[in-house]
Amino acid sequence: MGAEKRRLFTLFSAALLSLLLLLLYSFSTFTSSRPFPSVIHHGAHYPPAFAYYISGGTGDKDRIFRLLLALYHPRNRYLLHLAADASDDERLKLAAAVRSVPAVRAFGNVDVVGKPDRVNFVGSSNVAAVLRAAAILLKVDKGWNWFIALSALDYPLVTQDDLAHAFSSVRRDLNFIDHTSDLGWKESQRIQPVIVDPGLYLARKSQIFQATEKRPTPDAFKVFTGRTERGSCIAGSQWFVLSRSFLEFCVFGWDNLPRTLLMYFNIVMLSQEVYFHSVICNAPEFKNTTINSDLRYMIWDNPPKMEPHFLNVSDYDQMVQSGVVFARQFQKDDPVLNMIDEKILKRGHNRVAPGAWCTGQRSWWMDPCTQWGDVNVLKPGQQATKLEDTITNLLDDWSSQSNQCK
Ligand SMILES: *[C@@H]1O[C@H](CO)[C@@H](O)[C@H](O)[C@H]1NC(C)=O
Ligand SMILES: *[C@@H]1O[C@H](CO)[C@@H](O)[C@H](O)[C@H]1NC(C)=O
Repeated sequence: MGAEKRRLFTLFSAALLSLLLLLLYSFSTFTSSRPFPSVIHHGAHYPPAFAYYISGGTGDKDRIFRLLLALYHPRNRYLLHLAADASDDERLKLAAAVRSVPAVRAFGNVDVVGKPDRVNFVGSSNVAAVLRAAAILLKVDKGWNWFIALSALDYPLVTQDDLAHAFSSVRRDLNFIDHTSDLGWKESQRIQPVIVDPGLYLARKSQIFQATEKRPTPDAFKVFTGRTERGSCIAGSQWFVLSRSFLEFCVFGWDNLPRTLLMYFNIVMLSQEVYFHSVICNAPEFKNTTINSDLRYMIWDNPPKMEPHFLNVSDYDQMVQSGVVFARQFQKDDPVLNMIDEKILKRGHNRVAPGAWCTGQRSWWMDPCTQWGDVNVLKPGQQATKLEDTITNLLDDWSSQSNQCK
């Protein structure tokens, strides 16, 4: 080949390559999102919004991402936390996965905690992490009405449209928290023993330790816990749906009660199962706002273990009939999660669960939620009716006050 020919050839290949790139580019802009801005409205005349805190540990990146996709709605706010036992690499991969979702990029309503906490399930570092999440969510978003804490092992049983629709009829200062002051065996085995959580002061992971002395049961305030009875193992629920006003009370601390109880419960075992319950029931301005349910579906083994049993496809029917919002707990990628995706959430693999806000066409190559219209409208599905029934019953129970902070 002569020099002239070589130059011509180079020129020709360059032209061909640019044409190809141009074609590819126009094709991708044609098929991917053409989002037009949609204004998010909050307030009494609009559906409520939720702040989600989803936490997990090492190896939970994919579960947390899947749970986010199942729960995503542009009106909500999300904070994801991979505790300190997970690597920074895993944290960065989670952040990258989150950024790959077009709606998340456009609405900017998902954050990943970059400076993780050391969380010990049995100690008080768990309560500290939840309070921190609430503080961040209060700071970054003025619009949400309820705070929901989830673990990587949870999954929703309703769409976000179902949830916001059912909660539209709920007074926004109400709190869903399973509680009782009937401590039973817990008084001597949980409240009186003194434990120390090294997660609060040691850099490496280590187990809690227990003091030989016990403290008397408090009489300056009453201790409340979850109602679930699980034999002599672990009882009480650390799961709840808390109102924005109650979390402001806990986090801003203009009244000393939340802070005093925080210091008291610091050395109590499984303080996440008593802290919020005790604060809310000892605060005169909040105790009337408690609805005695955590809106979770769980099955306890007999005899009960530390955690509820893993739900599988055999539990599907009962689970969806329960009319609650979340279920726990699940094995990673258990087939029953695919059933929930397919039948309830109508969610495609690696896509967000569609809601009325998604306006794109639905096909195997196109995610309907890469295009959107008005994000303030809802389209409740089949599960919404069941959840509405549950909420109506709970509200009846609440107005009779038979079951509140007793
Ligand atoms: C809560 O309910 C009790 C009993 O009905 C009532 O006496 C009290 O005034 C209520 N408190 C608030 C702050 O509404
Ligand atoms: C589901 O779990 C229960 C209890 O652990 C077990 O008895 C049952 O065989 C499981 N079903 C399937 C389909 O794996």
